[in-house]
Amino acid sequence: MKIKNICCIGAGYVGGPTMAVIAQKCSKVKVTVVDINEKRIKQWNDPDVQNIPIYEPGLSEIVEETRGKNLFFSTDVDRAIDEADMIFISVNTPTKTYGIGKGMAADLKYIELCARQIAAVAKNDKIVIEKSTLPVRTAAALKNILDNAGNGVKYQILSNPEFLAEGTAVEDLRNPDRVLIGGDVETEEGREAMDALVNIYASWVPKERILTTNVWSSELSKLTANAFLAQRVSSINAISELCEKTGADVNEVSRAVGMDSRVGSKFLKASVGFGGSCFQKDILNLVYIARTYNLQEVADYWEQVIIMNDHQKRRFAANMVQTMYNTVAGKKIALLGWAFKKDTNDTRESAAIYVADYLLNEQAEIVVYDPKVTEEQIYSDLDYLGSRSGDANRQAVTVVDSPYEACEDAHAIAVLTEWNEFKELDWQKLYDQMLKPAFLFDGRRLLEPKTKKEIGFEFYAIGN
Ligand code: UDX
Ligand code: ADP
Repeated sequence: MKIKNICCIGAGYVGGPTMAVIAQKCSKVKVTVVDINEKRIKQWNDPDVQNIPIYEPGLSEIVEETRGKNLFFSTDVDRAIDEADMIFISVNTPTKTYGIGKGMAADLKYIELCARQIAAVAKNDKIVIEKSTLPVRTAAALKNILDNAGNGVKYQILSNPEFLAEGTAVEDLRNPDRVLIGGDVETEEGREAMDALVNIYASWVPKERILTTNVWSSELSKLTANAFLAQRVSSINAISELCEKTGADVNEVSRAVGMDSRVGSKFLKASVGFGGSCFQKDILNLVYIARTYNLQEVADYWEQVIIMNDHQKRRFAANMVQTMYNTVAGKKIALLGWAFKKDTNDTRESAAIYVADYLLNEQAEIVVYDPKVTEEQIYSDLDYLGSRSGDANRQAVTVVDSPYEACEDAHAIAVLTEWNEFKELDWQKLYDQMLKPAFLFDGRRLLEPKTKKEIGFEFYAIGN
């Protein structure tokens, strides 16, 4: 089966970079990325590629190279579906905020809408690929909706979970540890569809790194990979608290533990807590599905990873308050970083949101500086929590575009995202502008402690 036309529904953090790399690597395939969000598509089509809606190192260069040649962004979803041989579904699947499974199960309404739209429009056979992170057995629901459209079109549903991490998405896509493709291995048509997708990736990924499995293994592998990674972060964060009590240093512990090749050195960085669109959501999906099957111990086991993460965020903020003489009311606190990690403008589930919310409840005045996150996004993140009115958030929180402005007359600085530029700041200048004692809380173990203490900062770092 030769694929000539690919459509991707959803022009977000997954769909955008993934399709850009496919377009670059498969120059004979026409790739169209569609989204119902007109503003987002307009930004993807902005003549100045620096204005594309997603900040990701290396991405604007690829868009510049391929856009208008074989990569297109459009709001005409029906047309792109009609033309495509292969359709990737990369729409968002947030945690449900209502009804059964509220706060835990994934909200599949966007996925279902896509399936219904495909069913309504398609006139010839299609391969439909789940790209978004989905709970196990979503493919069955997709297949059901598509097969019941009653227009004689045949569908093959594949699961092709995304393992890219934001901030390194382009590199992860170009040189993946593995590509996973789940499909109907039992039938000839299923295997053919899987081969068609294997061939797309084989344009640049060595064949031995392309794994094929049944659909359920593929769906569950995605959740498991993220649960294991998140578990490592929660594990080291649990140890960071113990380090603070005992005089051990969590960086030294990480290093010593990580040098055991059975453990490995990655994902052992203590932090103010993990964020991002995947870890929490995927673990909640895992917990929810375990509960659904009445596997109480399995559910509790994984839920603890989330409980530990919530504790770490709260503990960091509580420690700030306690250190500053048990009150931050009316005190100006500068937050450096709002994104959930460096090199992305994504803020979903960022620890910074929760730290800010805690401090606002203690009536602090917050000033935020992040090199890539917009003011509009920061207010929208706080409003979404619903802890206070939008007006109250706008009154208590100021967003500035210079770290020096953020720290003027501040009582404290908290580093919440590990942006490289924070290491290079003129810390003496920042100190001179602040009220004294000047407190500095490093939630990322980013800064070198000795020089900060020499300047005069009251310095605190996670796990030390
Ligand atoms: C993750 C997975 O890594 C990726 O494979 C999957 O496709 C999507 O989810 P992402 O959420 O983009 O990717 O970022 P990741 O690098 O995994 O970081 C997640 C969070 O954990 C961030 O907030 C990060 O700061 C935090 N983290 C990570 C730590 O606190 N310590 C670490 O050692 C590593
Ligand atoms: P992810 O990180 O999974 O890529 P995003 O929220 O960044 O998540 O992107 C998902 C995109 O999917 C959004 O831009 C949203 O507008 C789009 N989307 C959601 N539902 C539909 C739909 N039915 N048709 C087209 N696009 C959709």
